[in-house]
Amino acid sequence: MAAGDGIAWGGRRVFVTGHTGFKGAWLVQALARQGAEVTGYALPPPTTPSLFEAAGVAGLLRRHVTGDVRDAEHLAAELAAARPEAVFHLAAQALVRRGHREPVETFATNVTGTAALLEAVRRAAIPCAVIVVTSDKCYEPHDDGRPHREEDALGGRDPYSASKACAELVAAAARRSSFPPERLVDHGVQVATVRAGNVVGGGDWAEDRLVTDLVAARTAGRPVKLRHPDAIRPWQHVLDPLSGYLDLAARMLRDPAAGYGRAWNFGPLPGGDLTVAAFVEAFFAAAGGGSWISAADPRAPVETVVLRLAVDRAVADLGWRPRFAPTVAIARTAAWYRGFSADPSAARRLCDDDFRAHEEASA
Ligand SMILES: NC(=O)c1ccc[n+]([C@@H]2O[C@H](COP(=O)([O-])OP(=O)(O)OC[C@H]3O[C@@H](n4cnc5c(N)ncnc54)[C@H](O)[C@@H]3O)[C@@H](O)[C@H]2O)c1
Repeated sequence: MAAGDGIAWGGRRVFVTGHTGFKGAWLVQALARQGAEVTGYALPPPTTPSLFEAAGVAGLLRRHVTGDVRDAEHLAAELAAARPEAVFHLAAQALVRRGHREPVETFATNVTGTAALLEAVRRAAIPCAVIVVTSDKCYEPHDDGRPHREEDALGGRDPYSASKACAELVAAAARRSSFPPERLVDHGVQVATVRAGNVVGGGDWAEDRLVTDLVAARTAGRPVKLRHPDAIRPWQHVLDPLSGYLDLAARMLRDPAAGYGRAWNFGPLPGGDLTVAAFVEAFFAAAGGGSWISAADPRAPVETVVLRLAVDRAVADLGWRPRFAPTVAIARTAAWYRGFSADPSAARRLCDDDFRAHEEASA
């Protein structure tokens, strides 16, 4: 993965929330490969197995804290002790269907937790670049399938999506009240939000995620049931948005007055989004077999049919581009699970293979 635009992460103090989750475990590995000193703050891994445990991510950390982002005092004490130069806030209740079951917990973690993180940064009074990870689902859905741009209306028709829209508002309020850009020399804090699409890659075992279902169905030798085979989603390999987050933070550190503290989409290039059925067929082709059946459930919660992200801002202003085409992302993900199934102790090596391929892929 790119080292970030012009800054080295070596020796940089970084605070990551949600480091025991899927994206967090990849992010810690990316930072550790570049020599950063990472403190992680999160609840225990949300799944068994987990990438955090399988890849030995705890061993890459300067400090591993088991903590709840709703515990504002604990979070503030750990963040102040870490004295971070960059903060990546990934901790979240990240599942749409669990959000339907547990809306209050979802709002508490995703909204109050984000407010607690930003308040911890204010209380620490340390200049730093803060990246708040929200989602492509933070937007009010476009029923005509137009790609979402960063200035589009926030919304969300389910608790998870709405909680991510609220997290965007919390970050925007902090940017205007606690950390106004015109007083940057006084507080030294920049806050950006990042909205990625449907992320795939090895080591995700979360319930209700498509790849989790595909791997389970293949292992059981049964067809996978697809609730929305025609739905279009902005699929991408986890290393692509992560390289965007790292590049963005690197630029914020290098040039604090340049105005990077705003919202950014990271998704596939135009034409790179696929239907669920096309994704599944490509995955099974790469994995060496598997089949699906349509199992639309009229009682299931409503889901957006088409979700696309416009990435022009990241391409133009950051020089960012996804490095893995969708077919490559799918093939590498299938290969990761095949490798893990053959040898669960190979998780870190499988991740390293993906890091190397990503570094070598032309930008
Ligand atoms: N995976 C995707 O496709 C995707 C897409 C868009 C946005 N996102 C966002 O990216 C971030 C990471 O997602 P992920 O896929 O790695 O999710 P995940 O469920 O694998 O990990 C979530 C992490 O948050 C931690 N966490 C949950 N509740 C917590 C709490 N109350 N206090 C402290 N830690 C808590 C978990 O322990 C875990 O470390 C989330 O903010 C998610 O909304 C993910």
